[in-house]
Amino acid sequence: MSKNNYLPDANGVDPDDIGHNESSNPSIQEILNARLSRRSLLRGASGAAGLALFSPFGLAGCAGSGDGGESSSSGNSSEQLLGFTPVAKSLADVFTVPVGYTASVIYACGDPLTAATAAYKNDGTDTDFDNRSGDCHDGMEYFGLSAAGTPDVSANDRALLAINHEYITQVFLHANGPTSGTRPAAEVDKEVAAHGVSVVEIRKSAGRFATVQSSSFNRRVTALSEVQIAGPAAGHALLKTKYSTNGTKTRGTLNNCGTGKTPWGTLLTGEENWAGYFKRAAGDDAKRDAKSVTALKRYGRSQGSSGRYGWDTAGTADQYARWDISLTGSSTDGTDDYRNELNGQGYITEIDPYDKTAAVKKRTAMGRFNHEGAAFSRPVAGKALAVYMGDDAQNEYVYKFVSATNWDAADASPSNRIATGDKYLNSGKLYVAKFNADGSGNWLELSITNSTVSGYATYAFADQGDVVINARLAADAVGATKMDRPEWCATNPKTGEVYFTMTNNSSRTAATVDAANPRSYSDTKGTATTQSGNVHGHIIRIAETGDDAAATTFKWDVYVFGAEETSPTATVNLSGLGKDNDFSSPDGLAFTSSTGICWIQTDDGAYTDVTNCMMLAALPGKVGDGGDVSVTSGTSTVTTKMGKKPTTDTLKRFLVGPFDQEITGVCESPDGKVLFVNVQHPGEGSTVANLSDPTKYTSQWPSNAGYGAGKRPRSATVMITKNDGGRIGS
Ligand code: FEO
Ligand code: CA
Ligand code: CA
Repeated sequence: MSKNNYLPDANGVDPDDIGHNESSNPSIQEILNARLSRRSLLRGASGAAGLALFSPFGLAGCAGSGDGGESSSSGNSSEQLLGFTPVAKSLADVFTVPVGYTASVIYACGDPLTAATAAYKNDGTDTDFDNRSGDCHDGMEYFGLSAAGTPDVSANDRALLAINHEYITQVFLHANGPTSGTRPAAEVDKEVAAHGVSVVEIRKSAGRFATVQSSSFNRRVTALSEVQIAGPAAGHALLKTKYSTNGTKTRGTLNNCGTGKTPWGTLLTGEENWAGYFKRAAGDDAKRDAKSVTALKRYGRSQGSSGRYGWDTAGTADQYARWDISLTGSSTDGTDDYRNELNGQGYITEIDPYDKTAAVKKRTAMGRFNHEGAAFSRPVAGKALAVYMGDDAQNEYVYKFVSATNWDAADASPSNRIATGDKYLNSGKLYVAKFNADGSGNWLELSITNSTVSGYATYAFADQGDVVINARLAADAVGATKMDRPEWCATNPKTGEVYFTMTNNSSRTAATVDAANPRSYSDTKGTATTQSGNVHGHIIRIAETGDDAAATTFKWDVYVFGAEETSPTATVNLSGLGKDNDFSSPDGLAFTSSTGICWIQTDDGAYTDVTNCMMLAALPGKVGDGGDVSVTSGTSTVTTKMGKKPTTDTLKRFLVGPFDQEITGVCESPDGKVLFVNVQHPGEGSTVANLSDPTKYTSQWPSNAGYGAGKRPRSATVMITKNDGGRIGS
């Protein structure tokens, strides 16, 4: 989601910047004495062997930086992870990768997904987005295919990419920009269909992938597709609508941001800023009970809000009426209107990329909030699975779901993948994180059997379905820690530790800093604009007690603090970032399993006076490999746990994207030789007034890189290869 504030919603608000958490949960107040304990990292035997086996650079790199595990485990004796030359910060309208690498666009907004679909003209007249790539590419996962077209986790030559389409760059979707006021149905139909998820087949030839336009696997799930409600909220009174009078289904997955990949080979897609799409009329509060009003307010839909794109204005037909959640009917249960429609969005939704006929299911046991990614713990046979999740809004929380069913390794290749999802994701425990000032943490259970939840004075939960639908309120009840906008999360395949990006938080003040969100400061953008709060964000990581996914306690530290290279080192640039690895607003985050590299992607509006959004490669150590640091914000000082400061051997800028976009979504072929990355909303700041003059678009990418017709910028998937055929990041 763009943070550039170019395109606020219909209420004049950037949905990402909305803060709704008005609970009285305290931030961590206590300032601790410095704790001197510093746990030195114990390098495993395999790491030591790696030093002896691998490159001449490996030894120097490891000696210099300690714990990155820099040498490869691929058996390729010439490989040096993070051996590439860093890419410089840039404001050019170019996608730049290191010397020796090649970046190629393979799948852009509007590209056809059937043989019969016309080529994309890219002039705003194209229709039929049900059979084209959606807009605003976001999270993305790779699903291997055998030559026979069956699931194959090791396939390097044939695969399906499943790609989120978070929202739309509305100005470019229509020939003359969007119609304001009452929206024409044809415009709304196109916009609805440009949201959701793509599944597109890719095949490799001569080292390079291309999409297969005629593949029978190609699929779109849109904001209008039928989706089943699964888990504790299925059939709940709060989900009854005119469309589903028994509360078991809804339409659409919406504002899909981060992703996850299940151990059984399906996509998890996170529904993020969905609330803003719905209209709620002035005077609606008086028609509802107090609980309903409390819940709507907590999730950001106050009465008198218009829908982000005005989809409710396109007519009286049901597919438009559903976008108005005002209470208009006479029923007592909501089965004659869409008063409960908002409760159908905000979940982790599971899609089987291999089977177009399989039901799409909302996994309500994992809670309802502004979902980003969904990162699994390392599966252990006979043990529960954990799924880690963030709620991206200011001062929201970090969550974990723990399956009731223990992992059976035979389920890695099941005959029915969605039934396997039912087995692991419909029943379990939902927790929210409390980060303590001493570097410990607690997972607090959100259960109707927890008396702190069931006895919450602000909201009287009816049952577990109510708890998961209103997970934010349950998390308020138990006293979770308010975070600096939890974005994506990712599990380090080497350590099992889980990393969470805290992208930024303009509402963090000196009065509310705590150990886990310790910075509030000012930064100048350009020559005049003063930005304040936690402007540049940070990445926090946790280690579960006993490396147990079901643990209820953990240890944490701040892996790295985002900063500009010139930011003050005592208060802002605590991690000592320099010109080759400074960044702001970490967002997308993933470890690739081939190399263990941690990829950090930015969705930044703070450092964009100096550089476009980017992706960095990191080789992080472990929780506790740094030490205590004292951070002063105004009159407040807190002590926090910080990871070992990175060097350019362990954190380095790998790419910089074109102008006026964000980098998001990353996955690889299993051999690590092809990396896929998305560019979202290039040129988003362009205006309708300048539509006829491409030179005035803020970006012309990827047409300026030779891709496709027309000059209008397009969100797109980029394939990155190494010219010597090596693995990406070496
Ligand atoms: Fe879609 Fe929070 O970024
Ligand atoms: Ca994002
Ligand atoms: Ca600045």
